[in-house]
Amino acid sequence: MAAESCKDWVLTVTAQTPTNIAVIKYWGKRDEDLILPINDSISVTLDPHHLCTTTSVAVSPAFTHDRMWLNGKEVSLSGGRYQNCLRELRSRAGDVEGEEKGIKITKKDWEKLHFHIVSYNNFPTAAGLASSAAGLACLVFSLAKLMNVKDDHSRLSAIARQGSGSACRSLYGGFVKWIMGKEQNGSDSIAVQLADEKHWDDLVIIIAVVSSRQKETSSTSGMRETVETSMLIEHRAKEVVPKRIIQMEEAIKNRDFPAFARLTCADSNQFHAVCLDTLPPIFYMNDTSHRIISCVEKWNRFEGTPQVAYTFDAGPNAVLISHNRKAAALLLQRLLFHFPPNSDADLNSYVIGDKTILQDAG
Ligand code: DP6
Repeated sequence: MAAESCKDWVLTVTAQTPTNIAVIKYWGKRDEDLILPINDSISVTLDPHHLCTTTSVAVSPAFTHDRMWLNGKEVSLSGGRYQNCLRELRSRAGDVEGEEKGIKITKKDWEKLHFHIVSYNNFPTAAGLASSAAGLACLVFSLAKLMNVKDDHSRLSAIARQGSGSACRSLYGGFVKWIMGKEQNGSDSIAVQLADEKHWDDLVIIIAVVSSRQKETSSTSGMRETVETSMLIEHRAKEVVPKRIIQMEEAIKNRDFPAFARLTCADSNQFHAVCLDTLPPIFYMNDTSHRIISCVEKWNRFEGTPQVAYTFDAGPNAVLISHNRKAAALLLQRLLFHFPPNSDADLNSYVIGDKTILQDAG
């Protein structure tokens, strides 16, 4: 049965994708349309039970246009980023045969068919917890499954990248590197897995949710302003990050927590320093974030060797990485002592997770 000859069928796929947190940050693009970065970055993928996006995609000849609902509200799909991802996926789509009713969709049919997409984040959206990373990775992954796109995760990462840069790293679990690439068309700007989720499985990640409000300056516009106005960003991208990437890869390979923690904290601090060096300056962290940094720095100094690493994305929430469960339990105790829930510290919850792999719930 050709796709257009009967309109009473719907094919669906559901997938779940965790978010990722960069330990060496991506900040700044050399191409805004293709989303090509000015430096490599490295991230750790989180446990999907705590911070993940679940997306269901459906296709039916009865659908007259593409529609999407995010956390229950309809959102527009007219933006260039969605359209770029959809165009790339349509061009790679394969033939699909449904299990029932003899449904057969040919490669050509995908040009005319439309999608309904329902996506849900189990954590605050656009609050600096990399919601776009999980969201776009999940969208691309589930549509690729639905459309029988045969590309491997690396090729899919290059498609997700065009939805949101950091999304390319969520296609893998464990530790992931986004290689900035050299080609103008972005073909070599892809994510690769450095180590899988079992490689360093005693690490525990605690996210201290300082605020779940949406950030005032989006990552996209923030990094554009930094590239245009900061005197420090070129030094960071060309001199500092390339060396840190090599050292971080080494630290991950050797499970060297002191080196890992030192690099992670230094890179977070430098990222926020270039934000401050932007005109007008961008403040993603708040007083509570600064107090958390002081607390961790003091503790690490007291112990003589780092017990915990901190990193902050484009928001005030702290991502704290401890080197084992014992250190995580102590960290949580200290956090609860210094920032009791519902105190005026504005720190409203803690999320605890391990690293994980991409899950196909379809
Ligand atoms: C601070 O990937 O959200 O989290 O590519 O414009 O969508 P766009 O930006 P986005 O930026 C993430 C910035 C960051 C650092 C990182 O994840 O590497």
